[in-house]
Amino acid sequence: MIIKKAAFHKSSSKLSECVRSPLPEFGFIGRSNVGKSSLINMLCNNNKLAKTSASPGKTKLINHFIINDNWYIVDLPGYGYAKTSKVQKSEFETIIIEYCSKRENLVCLFILIDSRLPLQQIDAEFLQWCGEKEIPFAIIYTKADKNSKAELKKNLELIEEKLLLIFSELPNSFITSAEKIIGKDDILDFIEGYLK
Ligand code: GTP
Ligand code: MG
Repeated sequence: MIIKKAAFHKSSSKLSECVRSPLPEFGFIGRSNVGKSSLINMLCNNNKLAKTSASPGKTKLINHFIINDNWYIVDLPGYGYAKTSKVQKSEFETIIIEYCSKRENLVCLFILIDSRLPLQQIDAEFLQWCGEKEIPFAIIYTKADKNSKAELKKNLELIEEKLLLIFSELPNSFITSAEKIIGKDDILDFIEGYLK
């Protein structure tokens, strides 16, 4: 699939404010700074679409982008940003939990994980929660350009060992780099599979 058209539609601070539409949507979630907004821009060939930042906590709202006039990409706030105040933290968590567990037209949630780090506790907890809630998801490993191929392979093996403590089989996953444009076609083909 090719993304011919991508446009910002709406930012919402809670589920009840989200776009009312029956169109299928795909959410992008993960720890702050993992590269959600950059990945969305890479998929859409538009570096100005979703706002990115070197400092974590940039995306604070649920952002809907309408794609090819018939489906949505949703950029979600990052979880697990230590510097966020306690009140804000629980607000974010409520937004995320509400959206992920109740959004009816959410077809698949892409959970982004930094390919360079060991599986973080918060990622493991979130993955487990998605499994328990039976939320369809796939994993996207980000920033694959930052490590050598050997380091990447080794780290992904360690992550997969941890994943197998949570799941009986490995979830679908994609290795990506927004910087080097890696993984784009595989993700878009995967999405297309759902849209058919
Ligand atoms: P929040 O909205 O704050 O939760 O962050 P985010 O997950 O949307 O991350 P964002 O896309 O803003 O990227 C965070 C930082 O990582 C930025 O400095 C990006 O340039 C950098 N980054 C994102 N993707 C990649 C990548 O594939 N490779 C490299 N080298 N850097 C990346
Ligand atoms: Mg962001």
